[in-house]
Amino acid sequence: MTDTADTTTFARTMLKEALLLQSAGNLAAAEARYRMVIEHGYRVAEVLPVLAGILGQRGADDEALAIWEEVLARDPGHAVAHHEQGLIHARNGRFAPAIAALEAACAADPENAVAANNLAVTLADAGRKHEALEQFTRARAMQPSNLHIEHQIRRLNAELVPFWHIPMLNDARRNDAFEAAISAAIAAAGPGARVLDIGTGSGLLSMMAARAGALSVTACEMVPVIAETARRIIADNGYAGRIAVHTAASSALEVGEHLDGRADILVSEILSSDLLTERVIDTFEDAHARLLKPDAIIIPRAAAAIGCLVESAVLADYVFVGTVSGFDVSRFGALAAQKLPIHGTMTDWKRLSGDVELLRIDLTRKSHPGDVQLLSIRVTQDGVAEGIVQWMEVDLAEGITFDNHPDGYTDGGWLQVLHTFPEPLAVEAGAVLHLAVGHDRTTLIIRPLEVASARAQPMVA
Ligand SMILES: C[S@@+](CC[C@H](N)C(=O)[O-])C[C@H]1O[C@@H](n2cnc3c(N)ncnc32)[C@H](O)[C@@H]1O
Repeated sequence: MTDTADTTTFARTMLKEALLLQSAGNLAAAEARYRMVIEHGYRVAEVLPVLAGILGQRGADDEALAIWEEVLARDPGHAVAHHEQGLIHARNGRFAPAIAALEAACAADPENAVAANNLAVTLADAGRKHEALEQFTRARAMQPSNLHIEHQIRRLNAELVPFWHIPMLNDARRNDAFEAAISAAIAAAGPGARVLDIGTGSGLLSMMAARAGALSVTACEMVPVIAETARRIIADNGYAGRIAVHTAASSALEVGEHLDGRADILVSEILSSDLLTERVIDTFEDAHARLLKPDAIIIPRAAAAIGCLVESAVLADYVFVGTVSGFDVSRFGALAAQKLPIHGTMTDWKRLSGDVELLRIDLTRKSHPGDVQLLSIRVTQDGVAEGIVQWMEVDLAEGITFDNHPDGYTDGGWLQVLHTFPEPLAVEAGAVLHLAVGHDRTTLIIRPLEVASARAQPMVA
């Protein structure tokens, strides 16, 4: 026999042994033989991936990565090599290379549902939820009955779409108030008016504008899965020809690109339960500056935070803590929630004052400098206050308002909000509580300053 024949025979024997050892679970011995096979230049392209796989199984991740790199040097489109490299990076918490490798695996083998699923999981772990959702959706198309993929899609949708969206849509009073204001605006400005809908959600307000006669509505929605759903809903309802939905934050819209001119009417419902958290101030200021005509009709045109002083044993347990199981943990109170969403009609609470306007924002104004003012509230009952329960009054158009006053509003998208005090505050009927009230553009500032005694004070709000 020649040297070459000897070498081949030896390598073949090693390979056989390696396969047997591997199937018997003796990975260390199998690895040594596979290395010999490769050293003898025998069936290297087939054996390298097997060796890399064994190294990965044995936890020798760096060596496995290096061998997969060799595989890729021979065949840059080797889907398994990309996939395995991605999994190794992912289990070591290196999201960026993991995602790059898994993307390469998907590009090399687009029909591989497992690779799509692994890419989706890694994107989700890296906090890139929108892209994760896209990949899970792609994986579902390949494996429609895969329960895990379906579960992940629902989980991510729920993380990306706030829970209040559905009760908000079912809030007929809110919807009717918006539709009345929108119809009045179209009647006043004419069907040719350019309508801009910022934060279209399901597309509801845009469809109301189109139903009222608007020929052209430009809508934007910054959450991609919501924007895509809006486009489908709008098409289902036959308005696709008149409403364009852009997957974008309003700050990314440009006149000339998304709108052919500044808009005549703005409709935008981005009021959070505490008025400001959905960045209504920034968004409306930006729209006035760049996207709207100076005399545009603004819906809503104003919104106010209204509130009253409250006492509630139930709410006190959410905000203050003292002795627990015999330990003084009162310091933890410093970490209490500054505001708590509450269901005003369900929570057991007692008013200690009348209703007071805390803050009003005129949304037709071009700018809203931050501002803190002194507000005095007359206490109407003795008690210990946990804070201020706050709700909203929205002024949509002449004669069209909407509120979620806790006495009359049961279910909808908006909850009431308890703005908590740092300490429980004992008050007596007739006294006057002085508060600092204002905003920092995205949150309400509500801070008790002092309680002035009942006898010395004049009547106030
Ligand atoms: C409270 S929902 C209202 C949805 C819809 N307009 C309605 O009234 O049924 C607000 C929506 O606006 C979107 N949004 C908030 N600010 C936005 C902005 N500046 N640009 C684009 N979308 C925005 C949110 O993602 C959310 O889907």
